[in-house]
Amino acid sequence: MTDLPEAQILPITADIGVDGRLMIGGCDVRDLVGKFGSPLYIYDEATLRDICRDFVGSFTAEYPNSHIEYSSKAFANPAIAEIIDQEGLDMDVVTGGELAVAIAANFPPERMNFHGNNKGREELVEALQYGIGIVTLDSFAEIDLLNEVAGELGVTQQVMLRLSPSIDPHTHLLTSTGILDSKFGFSIETGDAELAVEQAIDKESLDVVGLHFHLGSPIFELEPYSEAIDYVLQFAANMRDRYGLELKRFSPGGGFAIGYVSDTLPPAMSEYAKEIAVAIRKGCDAYGLDEPEVYLEPGRAIVGRAGVAVYTVGGIKTIPDVRTYVSVDGGMGDNIRPALYDSEYSVVPVDRPLAPRNQTVTVAGKFCESGDVLARDVDLPDPATGDLLALPASGAYCLMMASNYNMQTRPAVVLVNEGNARLIRRRETYSDLLASSLDID
Ligand code: LLP
Repeated sequence: MTDLPEAQILPITADIGVDGRLMIGGCDVRDLVGKFGSPLYIYDEATLRDICRDFVGSFTAEYPNSHIEYSSKAFANPAIAEIIDQEGLDMDVVTGGELAVAIAANFPPERMNFHGNNKGREELVEALQYGIGIVTLDSFAEIDLLNEVAGELGVTQQVMLRLSPSIDPHTHLLTSTGILDSKFGFSIETGDAELAVEQAIDKESLDVVGLHFHLGSPIFELEPYSEAIDYVLQFAANMRDRYGLELKRFSPGGGFAIGYVSDTLPPAMSEYAKEIAVAIRKGCDAYGLDEPEVYLEPGRAIVGRAGVAVYTVGGIKTIPDVRTYVSVDGGMGDNIRPALYDSEYSVVPVDRPLAPRNQTVTVAGKFCESGDVLARDVDLPDPATGDLLALPASGAYCLMMASNYNMQTRPAVVLVNEGNARLIRRRETYSDLLASSLDID
C-alpha cells in the first residue's frame, strides 16, 4: 500500500520510487517513457493475474460450477491472451480479428466462445475450423447461416442464444445492451426469444446448450443482475416445458464496473458473485431447473485496472476566469471514451504524485476536435511542458477503440513485472499508416 491518492484505481504494484516518482511493476514510469516513447500504455502483469484469481476465487466460492470467460474486446493482444490462458480463464471473441489474436496465442479453442451480433460466413468458417467451443447466436439469419456452415464442415456446433431481457442496468445509454430498444439479442418480451429457441433446437447441425444475456457496462448496481437472472431462468423453464430445451450452460454476461475515479468505486467482486450465485440458485429452485454451468464474461474488470496510459504535456493555455487547457501528445485517437461516453478519468502527475495539487485544469488531446478532452477539471501541481501525466484505469477498451484520426500513429504497449518491461505492441510507424494505401498490387 502506498500514500498515492489513486492507490485504489492504479495497478496494485503502483508505488513511489526513491526519487519520488511513480513506479509501476517495479519500473520507473519516466524511465519507461524514455525507453519506449510517449504516449505509452503500461500494463501491470501482477495486477492482471491478481484480478483473474480474484474473479475465479470469488465466483467459484459462491458457485463452484462457474467459469470466467475474458471478453477480449476489452484488450485483445497475444501476450495478454497467454496470461489469460495460464490463469485458466476462458475467452470470448466477437470478430475474425479477435479470433486471429486468440489463434496467435494458441488459445485452446474448446475454452472459447464466439459472440457478436452479425458474424460473417468467413468468420464462422474460421471459428469452426479452429474448433471453437461455443458460438453465441444473436439473430435468425445467424441461426440459419451457422447451421449451413456447420453442415458444410460436417460438425455439430454447440451454441447458446443471446437474449434481451428488457432490463435497464442504469449505465450510459450507449453501453446499455439488454434493454428492449437494442440491436443485441432475441427479445423475450417481443416473442423473438421463443421463436429462436424453437428454430435453433430443430437445426440439424446445431446443439443448443444454453442461454446468455448481457445487460451492458459498466454496471455499478447488483440488482439488475438478479432481476434479469430470475426473468431468464423463468423463460428457460418455459422453453424446457414447450420445446425440451435443456439449460446446461447459462451466462449472465459481463459488465462488472471498475473505479476510474477514487470516489466512485464498484462493489467487490465477491459481492457481484454472491448476488449472481444466490439469484441462480433461487431461480433454479423456483422453476425446477437443474443448476447449470455458469459463464461470466468480464472484459473491463479483468484488464481495466491493469493498464495505465502515460502522456507528455506540451502546450498550456490559460483563459482567465474560464479554464486552463493542458494539451498532451495523445487523446481521442487512443482514448475516445471521454468524448463518446463522457467517461471520467483521474490524472496522476508522474514526477510528483504526492505534491499538493493546487491548480484545476482540463487535460486535452492533440486531435483536431474540440471534444478531444481526456479529463475535465482535474487538480494538478503547477503543470509544465514536459511533465508526464498518467491516467489510471486505461486498460480496457481505450486501445481497442483507438483510431488513426489525423493520421496519428497508435501508442506502444509494455507489460511490466518485477522491474522488467516487455514491449507487447510496438508503436505504429508512418509506413504502417501508408501500407494499406500504397501496398496495392
Ligand atoms: N459480453 C458481451 C456479450 C458483451 O457485449 C460485452 C461488452 C462483454 C461481455 C464485456 O463487458 P465488460 O465486462 O467489459 O463491461 N466500449 C465500451 C464498452 C462496450 C462493451 C460492449 N460489450 C466502453 O469503453 O466502456
